[in-house]
Amino acid sequence: MTPAGRPGPSTSFAAGARRAAWRCLLALALLAVGVLAFGAAQEWKKIASDGLHDPAGPAVGVLQEPAEALAALAPDTAGNQVRWVSALDQGQIQPRTNILPETKVNLRTTEVLLKNTGEMAMVRFPHRQHTAWLDCSNCHDSLFQQKPGTSGINMFLILSGEKCGLCHGAVAFPLTECKRCHSVERGSPEHLAFGKSLVREGGTP
Ligand code: HEC
Ligand code: HEC
Ligand code: HEC
Repeated sequence: MTPAGRPGPSTSFAAGARRAAWRCLLALALLAVGVLAFGAAQEWKKIASDGLHDPAGPAVGVLQEPAEALAALAPDTAGNQVRWVSALDQGQIQPRTNILPETKVNLRTTEVLLKNTGEMAMVRFPHRQHTAWLDCSNCHDSLFQQKPGTSGINMFLILSGEKCGLCHGAVAFPLTECKRCHSVERGSPEHLAFGKSLVREGGTP
């Protein structure tokens, strides 16, 4: 539709320019995707040239190269390019759970639905994938309350490195992976599986 009050020719010129602009944007977006895909396939930096180790130091040649250690693990397109939860689930790594024999390992499998996400899909917080690495006391009750929807979490705090952002973007997958947290569309089967509750047992791996 031509917007009212705009003469025909200039509108079609504007539309043409808009189309060209969109094509340009699309091309840039595809280029970005290509670069990302290329980035994902790229090798891990070598110890001698990672900008962290002294290339003349004794560690070079003694330490295992990251590529040798990580290439065999479940791949990811983000962060350090390992899907750590899959690597653990598939038994590719077996991290030690405790140093002292008397330390009690606590696992929990409930999932919590966090609904204050505006236009975004809701967030599913999975306990299983966290307590496989972490103890309850890493999060409770300093970061989060043990009562659903009461911890005052929001995206600003997360982007400021608080709440989920204390780990995500630092030692766990980065915040650019919106959908890995915002995974529950309103009205989807994943949403309906919660029923009227904010907590459910088990759920998707
Ligand atoms: C590590 C998990 C995680 C990631 C990654 C993540 N979010 Fe969030 N986001 C949350 C949580 C948790 C909330 C708060 C939900 C609640 O308290 O009910 C939230 C809330 C939001 C909100 C609601 C408004 C607000 O300010 O809180 C928006 C919008 C949002 N996120 C957008 C995004 C976008 C866009 C991305 C990707 C660039 C993203 N989020 C990545 C976990 C995440
Ligand atoms: C990585 C952080 C983290 C770890 C580790 C963690 N929790 Fe949670 N827990 C949360 C978050 C986030 C919520 C939701 C808070 C909210 O909705 O306000 C929650 C909610 C809860 C709840 C209320 C919902 C439910 O599942 O019934 C309980 C109870 C709970 N946690 C117990 C535990 C116990 C016990 C452990 C250890 C076995 C544990 N949590 C480990 C982050 C964590
Ligand atoms: C104390 C550290 C910590 C906090 C706080 C934390 N996470 Fe995580 N999270 C991890 C680690 C470690 C992993 C496993 C490694 C990875 O996936 O990068 C993980 C994994 C996940 C996964 C599963 C990823 C997969 O591949 O299956 C989701 C989803 C997730 N976190 C969401 C959240 C949300 C939402 C919050 C906040 C409500 C949060 N996390 C808070 C450390 C944390």
